[in-house]
Amino acid sequence: MSLRLGVNIDHVATIRNARGASYPEPVRAAELALIAGADGITAHLREDRRHISDADIAVLTDLCHKRGKPLNFEMAVTDEMVGIALSARPHAACLVPERREEVTTEGGLDVIKGQNRIADATARLRTVGARVSLFIEPDPDQIRASVAAGAQVVELHTGAYCDAARAGEEARAEAILKRLKAGAALAHDLGLEVHAGHGIDYATVKPIAAIPQIAELNIGHFLIGEAIFVGLPEAIHRMRALMEAARVELEALA
Ligand code: PXP
Repeated sequence: MSLRLGVNIDHVATIRNARGASYPEPVRAAELALIAGADGITAHLREDRRHISDADIAVLTDLCHKRGKPLNFEMAVTDEMVGIALSARPHAACLVPERREEVTTEGGLDVIKGQNRIADATARLRTVGARVSLFIEPDPDQIRASVAAGAQVVELHTGAYCDAARAGEEARAEAILKRLKAGAALAHDLGLEVHAGHGIDYATVKPIAAIPQIAELNIGHFLIGEAIFVGLPEAIHRMRALMEAARVELEALA
């Protein structure tokens, strides 16, 4: 199975908004990312609009449409966001938990607790052809609840794994990686497409990319940060090369 890379350009908007200026433009980064080989663009329209704005979503939608590449619209499960997604008609919608005071998306969606609300949003998004993904922890009950909610995709939260690996906490990282592997296998067996994302960098991408059921990684913060030093195309090329190396090693083992 091939492994796609979705590039999240939220933090280009974070830099723009730090000055209340009109640049750097997220859409310019998105175009560069697609030219450099990204398979799609991911953007999170947060309720507080701290990075991506409504106008960004409109131009990103046009760009992705023009280039024939998917836009993955990350959003909270609220009527406002569902309404915006229904008119933007993105290729994909990824439902995430959102708290205003958090710095970034801290944990996965609780699909068990929010079953009715999430199933309703999923059904509405699917009426405009959006492929709906739920951002969850690799927990078997959350995976089963995602199937019941009508999602076609789960995106497994890799943040805890990446944090543990970067902190050198090997045993904890191994234990979380084991859960990610089991979660990916279960989700795939239940007929879901499996994605993964959050916190991934060059040092953590290979063990995640080596999970065979994963079809897509969504990576943002690290790539945009690295772009400051080497440029976005180079950062994307290097990330893709590591993803491909992980898959080649996997095939060699099979
Ligand atoms: N996937 C989801 C669902 C996210 O919320 C985020 C962060 O916006 C990412 C992937 C990308 O995470 P990062 O910016 O840490 O690479």
